[in-house]
Amino acid sequence: SRKLLPALVQLQAGNAFHERSYILGVGRTPMRDADFRERVQAPVELLERCFFQVVDYEDAATYATLAARLNELDRVHTVAHRRVLYLATPPGVAQIVVERLGASGLSSTSNDGWVRVVLEKPFGSDLASAKRMHQVLSGVFDESQIYRIDHYLGKDTVQNLLVFRFANAIYEPIWNRNYIDHVQISVAESEGVGRRAGYFDRTGLLRDMVQNHLLQLLCLTAMEPPCTMHECFMRDEKVQVLAAVAPLSPADGQRCSVRGQYAAGQIGDEVVRGYRSEPGIAADSAIETFTALRLEVDNWRWQGVPFYLRAGKRLARRSSEIVVQFKAVPASVLQPLIAAQLTPNRLHFQLQPAEGIQLRFETKAPGPQLRVRTAAMQFNYAEAFGGPPPDAYARLLLDVMLGDATLFLRQDWIEHAWTVLAPVLEYWSHDARDLAFYPAGSWGPAESTQLLARDAREWLAK
Ligand code: BG6
Repeated sequence: SRKLLPALVQLQAGNAFHERSYILGVGRTPMRDADFRERVQAPVELLERCFFQVVDYEDAATYATLAARLNELDRVHTVAHRRVLYLATPPGVAQIVVERLGASGLSSTSNDGWVRVVLEKPFGSDLASAKRMHQVLSGVFDESQIYRIDHYLGKDTVQNLLVFRFANAIYEPIWNRNYIDHVQISVAESEGVGRRAGYFDRTGLLRDMVQNHLLQLLCLTAMEPPCTMHECFMRDEKVQVLAAVAPLSPADGQRCSVRGQYAAGQIGDEVVRGYRSEPGIAADSAIETFTALRLEVDNWRWQGVPFYLRAGKRLARRSSEIVVQFKAVPASVLQPLIAAQLTPNRLHFQLQPAEGIQLRFETKAPGPQLRVRTAAMQFNYAEAFGGPPPDAYARLLLDVMLGDATLFLRQDWIEHAWTVLAPVLEYWSHDARDLAFYPAGSWGPAESTQLLARDAREWLAK
């Protein structure tokens, strides 16, 4: 109701949802079509095409009923068996649902139609479970039917990373270790765990945000130009980035990772409770709501350039951004100014909110004295395009309907992502003593600042 239905409403408003298409909500909560329609805030023409079917995920008979209902709805709407099965299920349930869909024949594509399945993260909770899930999935669906969704890839500002890099010739020659000092990727949220305690307290922030969204941002920033945007080339290049991430050793687990949990604090005017006092959260929970990592992509382009990743809940404000920090000038010719007095260039991709891009550079301050001031060139999405970017889910659901998997994840990427994080998970599994607390409304624990301070750097987004 928060993401998917509004996205479908948006598609319909843009005439991208075929007039004969219908939506069948499926869930455990007993509901009639009318109750479901009450929950969907949609224009009447779409509401009339919303239906609901109560299911028991485990029960094979449920799926026979579901199939019969779909066939009937297909007949009434004169649609030819073209189905998107969207599994917005709790992680523990996905596997059984997939198995039952297979056994009931609901996964099979008929002659004149197709069936596609959309799965949400987390794709397993580590490498082994991701592989197991894949085994089940590929026993039921052909790979071409599977759409693993990461809504960050549907964001216009995220796709713009590729346009910025590959539609402009001037950045490519400097997009490497010769000119770039380091990269920071931050996804800060001011929201807490909200009503998702049951999910989050078993998952934690590393699995919820880093294994997917942040590593995708890393890939888009660091990848080589694919020969075209075709899905196989795009996905190949992203896998190559993860394959090049220098494996962390157990000692790196301690040196290169930070895990934090929010304590009570204040965000704006709102006094908020700590994570352990949130409804549904264990009073001694050691689950992290904040993560910072230092990774290196050990290839020709990036060797020696640290990528700092940071994500957290209940931080000072909501902001997702990528900062590309360029190197300082090698020496100052602007005597008496020394090189250290000149601020190195910086590119700042503000992914959300206040979407835009900023390039910082040095200018001469007016007057006879030689003084240098940092200025910025600014691109503001809303100003340039007359409004905020479109919704990520709408774009991705449309892509599923069109059969374009470019913005979806491939299994090998998911496995590489788990491999990158395995040493951190391993290190964290032994001992929760290093769980650092931070007041809600701050930028995370002091350990996060120290992570960069060890490299004589600091977080630039704050
Ligand atoms: C989801 C996570 O994938 O992304 C949530 O499960 C998080 O915990 C959300 O709040 C953030 O998405 P966005 O689009 O608001 O940045």
